[in-house]
Amino acid sequence: MPLFEAKNICAGYGDVMIVNDVSLSVSNGDLVAIVGPNGSGKSTLLKSLLGLAHLFSGQVLYRERDITRIAPWQAVEVGLGYVPQVNNVFTNLTVNENLEMGAYHRHDKAGIRSDLEEMYQRFPELAARKKARAETLSGGERQLLAIARAMMARPRLLLLDEPLAFLSPKASEVVLNRLLQIQAEGTSLLLVEQNTIKALQNASYGYILNEGRCVMEGKGPQLLADGSLRERFLGLGKEV
Ligand SMILES: Nc1ncnc2c1ncn2[C@@H]1O[C@H](COP(=O)(O)OP(=O)(O)OP(=O)(O)O)[C@@H](O)[C@H]1O
Ligand SMILES: [Mg+2]
Repeated sequence: MPLFEAKNICAGYGDVMIVNDVSLSVSNGDLVAIVGPNGSGKSTLLKSLLGLAHLFSGQVLYRERDITRIAPWQAVEVGLGYVPQVNNVFTNLTVNENLEMGAYHRHDKAGIRSDLEEMYQRFPELAARKKARAETLSGGERQLLAIARAMMARPRLLLLDEPLAFLSPKASEVVLNRLLQIQAEGTSLLLVEQNTIKALQNASYGYILNEGRCVMEGKGPQLLADGSLRERFLGLGKEV
């Protein structure tokens, strides 16, 4: 049984349709990547799954339960975490306050406290900056904070919109490794990325979007190895 499925999604803003008939599926433990050029509708697709963009038609299923047009706060409650592409931390709050915000809908105080400790162990960079305002963090630290904040809701599936964008190669390596660790520990990942090579190298399965449509799907490394795909849609040279 897939953990998460989106079927024939048509989505956009107002009456403008951006995403056209895209379907995807995530199984337990998967890292599924969505890649494609700028403006191809990757963010719109993620947002439409979480009630943050207009869904014209299509169906969204979580553990076979129909969650189509779920409200964003309900998505968090059922087990979907979201790390947006921009404005993904509260810059004027401290690191610790940001993490507490991630658990805003929970009432199990002891559980929240122990999850906070776990986040600080998992992300030692954040432990060193607990009282710092998020605006003072580096780009890489901010992404780690955004991920840790989403993890405070104990998601079963984490949807991430370009967590590696604008990071130095070193910071991007740190963030990716942390995500792979989160995946290894049982949280499935649906990852939108501009860094096509890194995303597809690590993806169990990948979808390539172009102008709002899925033009190809398959196992991550296989997509990367396809010379014509690399040239036409991935902005890469022909050779791996
Ligand atoms: N809030 C909005 N209202 C209207 N149109 C929007 C909105 N956000 C994005 N768009 C348009 O939707 C299209 C797809 O944008 P989207 O952000 O989904 O692409 P993307 O693949 O995530 O791009 P990028 O790689 O640059 O993040 C673009 O033409 C964009 O101008
Ligand atoms: Mg985007």
